[in-house]
Amino acid sequence: MSTRSRPAFREGGLTVLANRTTRPGVVPATWPPRTAVVTGASSGIGREAALLLAAGGCSSLLVGRNGAALDEVAAATEGHRIAVDLAEPGSELAVASRASELLGDVDLLVCSAGLGAAGPYDMMSPDAIAQLVAVNVLSPMTLVRAMLPAMLDRGQGRILIVGSIAGALGVRGEVAYSATKAAMVGFADALRAEVAGRGVTVTLCVPGVVDTPFFHRRGAPYVRRWPRPIPAALVAERMLEATGRGRADVWVPGWLRGAVRVHGAAPSMYRKLAGVFG
Ligand SMILES: NC(=O)c1ccc[n+]([C@@H]2O[C@H](COP(=O)([O-])OP(=O)(O)OC[C@H]3O[C@@H](n4cnc5c(N)ncnc54)[C@H](OP(=O)(O)O)[C@@H]3O)[C@@H](O)[C@H]2O)c1
Repeated sequence: MSTRSRPAFREGGLTVLANRTTRPGVVPATWPPRTAVVTGASSGIGREAALLLAAGGCSSLLVGRNGAALDEVAAATEGHRIAVDLAEPGSELAVASRASELLGDVDLLVCSAGLGAAGPYDMMSPDAIAQLVAVNVLSPMTLVRAMLPAMLDRGQGRILIVGSIAGALGVRGEVAYSATKAAMVGFADALRAEVAGRGVTVTLCVPGVVDTPFFHRRGAPYVRRWPRPIPAALVAERMLEATGRGRADVWVPGWLRGAVRVHGAAPSMYRKLAGVFG
């Protein structure tokens, strides 16, 4: 264990990075992770994940665009950073090559970078749609594509994708965003099935409303009284715990899964309720 000073963290948070005693051969020996690549590490959920990983002794490559914010997280975690626009084609190769150079084998890839968009779909510009797809869909897909072969070669690795409840339910006023996050459901499911039994796990995190700069950045604040936004640190903790356990998915807060079950079992009733409660 490194002697570096640990960032302050929520009480109990470190237990999510504890060694798991699982049946040999079922869960690959990459937990707690020694090395990680974290996209979206400059803010919100990705930032909290990076802090938690560092507190557990993991060395990370922090990915984002905001150099000053990355510097701050890198200083707190003694991590490495790369400032890159993930919407740019080829950026995933720069990240993968820097990770290999600085970290060697990567135990964990966290894809948290993302952006939102709110407003009527018929008013949305094609450029804004393309930007959303580039960051929320193409970037995690191409980054996983760049890093997966090394994980498969080693027979070890964890992939954690941050989706959204909007991808499971489809939220009015967030049509393009919902579509990008729905794409991550299919991506994670198919990838998990394809790599099953080869030492690589794929976990999809499905958060509800999280208290981060996400809403401010998209230019439309969160105004509903319910559900109340939950802390980003809680999401980071739950999603890393689920990843450590090799779970297929994790819903934060957990009751979201119930809402999706109603949606699946009784779609017309769900649509009526959604029409009433928004
Ligand atoms: N907040 C919520 O209520 C909520 C709910 C469900 C799901 N999510 C998902 O959770 C993930 C994290 O969001 P958050 O709430 O933590 O939001 P956030 O605080 O706004 O963080 C977004 C992160 O994505 C990075 N990013 C955005 N565009 C990028 C680009 N073109 N290139 C590189 N990095 C880029 C940002 O980096 P820079 O600032 O350095 O560019 C930032 O680190 C997203 O995938 C989001 O869709 C959020």
